[in-house]
Formats: sequence, C-alpha cells, structure tokens
Amino acid sequence: MCGIIGYIGDKKASDVLISGLSHLEYRGYDSSGVALFGEKDIEIYKAQGKLINLIHVLNSKKEICTSSHMGIGHIRWATHGMPTEINAHPHTCNCENLTLVHNGIIENYQELKQELQMLGCKFKSQTDTEVAAHLIAQEYGKTQDLLKAMQNAVKKIQGAFAFCAMHKHEPNKIVIAKRNAPLIVGVGIGENFIASDVPAIIEYTKKAIYLSDYQTGVVTKNDIKIYDKEDKLTANKIEFLPYEALAISKMGYKHFMLKEIYEQSDVARNILAQKLVSQNENIKLDELKLDGNNIKKITRVQIIACGTSLHAGMVGKYIIEKFAKIPTDVEASSEYIYRDTIVDENTLVIGISQSGETADTITAIKQAKEQGAHVAIITNRVDSTMARLADSLLPVNAGIEVSVAATKSYMAQLISLYLLAIRLRELKFDFKDIEIIKLKQELFELPTKIEELLGHSEKIQKVAKKYSSYKNFIFIARGINFPSALEGALKLKEISYINATGYSAGELKHGPIAMLDENMPVLAILNTGVVYDKVLSNCEEARARQAKLIAVTNYIAPKDENLFDDVIMVPFGSDLISPALNIVVLQLLAYFIAEYLGKDVDQPRNLAKSVTVE
Ligand code: F6R
Repeated sequence: MCGIIGYIGDKKASDVLISGLSHLEYRGYDSSGVALFGEKDIEIYKAQGKLINLIHVLNSKKEICTSSHMGIGHIRWATHGMPTEINAHPHTCNCENLTLVHNGIIENYQELKQELQMLGCKFKSQTDTEVAAHLIAQEYGKTQDLLKAMQNAVKKIQGAFAFCAMHKHEPNKIVIAKRNAPLIVGVGIGENFIASDVPAIIEYTKKAIYLSDYQTGVVTKNDIKIYDKEDKLTANKIEFLPYEALAISKMGYKHFMLKEIYEQSDVARNILAQKLVSQNENIKLDELKLDGNNIKKITRVQIIACGTSLHAGMVGKYIIEKFAKIPTDVEASSEYIYRDTIVDENTLVIGISQSGETADTITAIKQAKEQGAHVAIITNRVDSTMARLADSLLPVNAGIEVSVAATKSYMAQLISLYLLAIRLRELKFDFKDIEIIKLKQELFELPTKIEELLGHSEKIQKVAKKYSSYKNFIFIARGINFPSALEGALKLKEISYINATGYSAGELKHGPIAMLDENMPVLAILNTGVVYDKVLSNCEEARARQAKLIAVTNYIAPKDENLFDDVIMVPFGSDLISPALNIVVLQLLAYFIAEYLGKDVDQPRNLAKSVTVE
C-alpha cells in the first residue's frame, strides 16, 4: 500500500530517496518522510500531504542533504492513525537512535504496545509501525546488534511487514526484513538500494535481489547479506529487472491515465503478436502448464480477483464457459477467503491481478493451492508475490501502469482471458471450429479498432463536458457487457467521485428504476447480439422516467436514434469481442469528466495502486 525506499552509497541520499518516492507516489500518498544519516546523527523530516510538501521541507535543509549518503524514506497510505505528520514514517524509539519505515499491518500491535508501555516506551503516534520501532529498540538493548534485534523482534510480530531500519550506533548499514509485503534490494556498484517496488530504483539499477517471506538482511555500500527464517546466512539470486525508466514518464500526455488508455492498442498488438500466429494455428500458450488430459479432468474453474481485475474475470467467465464448456465461478477474493469454498485437484483457479500483490487475492490463492487446485495467475507483474505462487504464470505484459485507475492492464487481462479460453478449447476438444476462427480473426483486428476509437475521442469529450455536472450516473448492459457497465461505473466513481453504479439492464425495473428522473443520466451499452433488443427495451423504460440517455453502441437503427440524448459509436465487433472495445469509451469518458472537474486523475483520494493489506 505504502512505498519504501532506502539508499546507501556515494550519491546524495536525499536525491535518491525523493526520486524513488516520486516513482512510488502512485502507490499511496497521504504523507511522506525520510531519515537521513548525517556525519554523526540521523535526522528525520516528514510532511503531511503530497510528496512536494516533503520536498519543500528538504529544500530548507541543505546541509544534511549535501552531507548524507545513506537514508530511508516512506510514502504513506494511512491504515492505523490519521494521515498526519506525526503518523508519517520514519518512526523512532524513546532515545531516537533507531529509525524505521514499514509497509504492511502489525496485527498484534495492541498487545505489543501494552507490553512496551509497561517497559517505559512512550508513543507519539497512533501507528502500528511505532510499536515495531520500540520493539526492535528493546531487542537492541539486549543484543547491541541491529540485525539480531530485527531478527528477534520480527519473531514476535504477527501480520505483514517490509521493514527498513537504521541505528545511530551502527552507521553504514541498513537492516531489512520481509513477511507478506514486497521488498527488493537493488544491486549497484559501490552503492545499494532498497525498495518496495521496482519503479523506485529502476533509473539507478537493473539488477535486484527479491526477498522471500521471513528473510532478513543487512545492506551496506558494497555488500548485501540475506538471512533465512532460522537466521542463517543464505544466498538469493540476483535477478534482472524487466522495466525501462521510460515506461514511468508521461511522454507528453497530461496524465498517466490518458497515456495508458492510449497505449492499449499497442498493448493488445504486443500480446497478440506473441501468442496468436494465425487463425489456423493453435494459440501459443506454453505458460499454461496443463495438457489436454489434465484439462479434460477439470470440473470447475474459479476466478478470483478484486476491483477492475474482478470485472475482467467476469468477462472471462463468459468466454471460458462458452469455449471450454467448464462451469466457471467468479468471486471477489475478499469474499472467497471467508467461506468453505469447494476446491480439489480437478479445480482450475485463476487469480487475476495487475499488481500481483493484492493481499486478499494472495490469501485466496494460497488457500486454493493448499486444497490441491491448479493455480493459474494472470498478472502484469512477473516479479510479484502472486507470480511466485503460480503453477501456470500467464503474463499480460502491459508494461508498468502508473495511474491508480487500471486501464491498459484491464485490456491486457481481457486479451489473456480470450487466449486462455481458446487454448482450453483447443486442448480439450482438439479441433478447430468456425467460432474459434472467427474470434481469432476479431482478435487480429482488435488493435486497429482500438486505434480507430482512440482517434475519434472528440465526441466522448463533448459528452463528458455535457454530463460532468451530474452528481449520479447509472450504467446498464447485459450479458458479456454487464462487467463493462460495472467497470465503466467504477472508473467514473474512482477518479471523479461521482456516484456511479453499474446494473444489469434487466435488473433496472426490480428497484433501481425508482431513482430515475431528469437528474439521473443512464449510459447504456448496446451491442448487436442476443441482448440488443432487450437492452433497447430497458432504455425505453428509462426514457419514460425522463432519464437522460447515452448510448455506447456499435449499431443504432435510425428509428431508435431519437430515444437517446447522445450516441457514442464504437467500431463494429461481435458480442464476444465487444467488452474490449466498449471499455475504451468508458475509460475516456471517465477520464474527461474527471479532467473537467479538475480532479487529481492519476492519484484519486483515498486510493492506492497496490492494496497489500486485507
Ligand atoms: C481500479 C483498480 C482497482 C484494482 C484492485 C485490484 O481502477 O485499479 O480496483 O483493480 O485494487 O488490484 P490488482 O489488480 O492489482 O489485484
């Protein structure tokens, strides 16, 4: 949720920390802070609000910023305690010799706090992190060794953490620990870096060590030592980081979200180029570690995900049931983990996640694996925790997505699900039929159709302006586009804070219709296919209640045009492929409305890119 950065080397530490935090800012951002190790002392600076506030504070601290070559930093998304300066990290102990930053949640912090208070620890903040600072300091009192103190302390902590700590009496080292929260050490020459995510360090190094759960470590200028759960020295391999610094620049677009929406045709083209050779050849999906015999034994598919990834999974249900003929359930990970799910070795569980770090989905996957399921992971982050848990890792290769609102990763997830559904059918039935050939043809055409749509965004912009003052919105659709209605509404509410809800169009008359009047715009997704006429009838019902009506459609008969206040045309495609086209309109509409309203599009309030707490 939050972001961590650490540096030790010859550069100005404050520069590296601020640059790292700026690349993590999309992950969590209600306050930030750094601890800089100076000639003799550690100095801590914090600021409430955006990172720029911390930069202003540091601008007035030239001396320490010039002399410090080692430090830790943090950008916070509040869980325990308000987003104030006091609650911002780094945190310290009574004597302030120890400094700590933390991602995750310490579940037993109340019990630990009581014990520590009885030992005389004085707490300044409302955070769970401060408990860890005091606890490690207590252990330091017994061992006079920061690594040992960390190793002893983490054994008493329940919950999730990535820690980075410095101690005044142990200059030249940063001590780290990880459990259920990501942490990497970037490997440099005469310098090393620590981060909770790759973008923080990618401009400095392309090599990193990924810590596993229960590992601890000591990072100095020229050395990295990692220890296992039993505190024995261990060797983690150095991995090559797959990202380019360029991917995290706006490239001239006003917002990352707009850039990422516009990247979707290339995202689609790149994935398809690797996996779809021709209409008559099988999909190249060697990453799926199941053969025809295994697939014939699969009796059910369960898709687990959260938010936008969950909506991709809902589209996946339609296409997997249609092509692979396997009953498929889709469920929010946060619900899946708290009931007696029926899973066995004949279940294929598909976890979908842009970040690969969503805590609820990780827990659900671990649960399914324990029960014997084959776990396939569709993620944009091949270096993530989920990727490491996968039996089959189906990468989506959308490139780093910076804007909090997921756009291009959703497109990539959809395409991966199309390819998976086709591959399951090829393996299960071993024949090529006309429906598969048609869908493959539509996939070939998809990138060009997305481009066509992106090239004509003026109409969407006009509609956005016209409706930007409405306080509520309803999105309706049926069939395979019902998830598009949910996703369109989610995009709008998360970046513009307009109360938008997606409904199955058939459900409108079972309650929501009571809300319709001239102040409630209804956006209907109408795609030629089995449900077209039904959705059209639902639009008539809405019109009869004076609701303003917007159609997002690939066909409208002249006689029906007057039903709508506004019509946004989408390139023609079958029902099956239409979610990948309609969503581009809905993403742009949400973007332009938020833009007109002057909202912070890339970093909407209360949200973070990666939700690493349950
Ligand atoms: C919305 C959005 C979220 C995420 C959700 C799951 O734009 O980004 O709803 O989709 O938090 O995150 P991942 O996909 O990283 O598991």
